[in-house]
Amino acid sequence: MKIAVIGATGTIGTEVANKLQSMGHDVVRVGSKSGDYQLDITSLEQIKRFYEDNPALDAVVSAAGGASFKKLENLEPEDNQIAINSKLLGQINLVLIGQHYLNENGSFTLTSGVMMDDPIEFGSSAAMANGGIASFVKSASIELKNNLRINNVSPNVITESMDKYGDFFKGFTSVSLSKVANAYIKSVEGKQTGETYKVYD
Ligand SMILES: NC(=O)c1ccc[n+]([C@@H]2O[C@H](COP(=O)([O-])OP(=O)(O)OC[C@H]3O[C@@H](n4cnc5c(N)ncnc54)[C@H](OP(=O)(O)O)[C@@H]3O)[C@@H](O)[C@H]2O)c1
Repeated sequence: MKIAVIGATGTIGTEVANKLQSMGHDVVRVGSKSGDYQLDITSLEQIKRFYEDNPALDAVVSAAGGASFKKLENLEPEDNQIAINSKLLGQINLVLIGQHYLNENGSFTLTSGVMMDDPIEFGSSAAMANGGIASFVKSASIELKNNLRINNVSPNVITESMDKYGDFFKGFTSVSLSKVANAYIKSVEGKQTGETYKVYD
């Protein structure tokens, strides 16, 4: 399969792209400033150009999308807009535009995160985006044409990211990057659709 991994230079994306490549797939590694191809998912024009520049994709995996981590009392509407524009709409727009470009029987795999189910301080904005992604995926799956599938991976905090995020997730038992990456492989290689794979333990 020809597969684009958006966020392919990040912690999750690197592992997913490497696993897919080792399975023999043709992987296009995408970042906003890094990778084989540069795409900022907050730009509709760049998403359209991305699909035109990378025709005949069989799968799109998104492991990208940012959000502000702030206490609710300090979370301004402008801070919240980052999660809306990036993690929520950025990923959803990859689907809304990409559904018209992907090969028949293709798939989308998006990313949310544990905060939508197990809240942490500073996490409201990311949780909002995560919940939106999970609901969008469930609903979109029943309408996608051309036998396209869509799933979401919701990782717990990842062991390999604990140096970056550990202070936010005190008391959480992290999961391995390899286990999280397997959920993306299951989504791409399997037949299921409309699922959120919760990799929490
Ligand atoms: N790591 C964890 O423990 C964990 C747990 C649960 C959920 N998640 C979620 O999983 C996703 C990926 O996490 P990660 O830890 O792998 O992130 P990461 O290491 O920070 O990597 C982010 C990746 O996304 C790309 N990227 C960033 N902004 C982009 C944009 N606007 N358009 C396109 N690409 C963009 C980056 O490339 P450039 O630098 O070139 O832009 C990079 O390849 C995030 O949404 C995160 O919330 C992570």
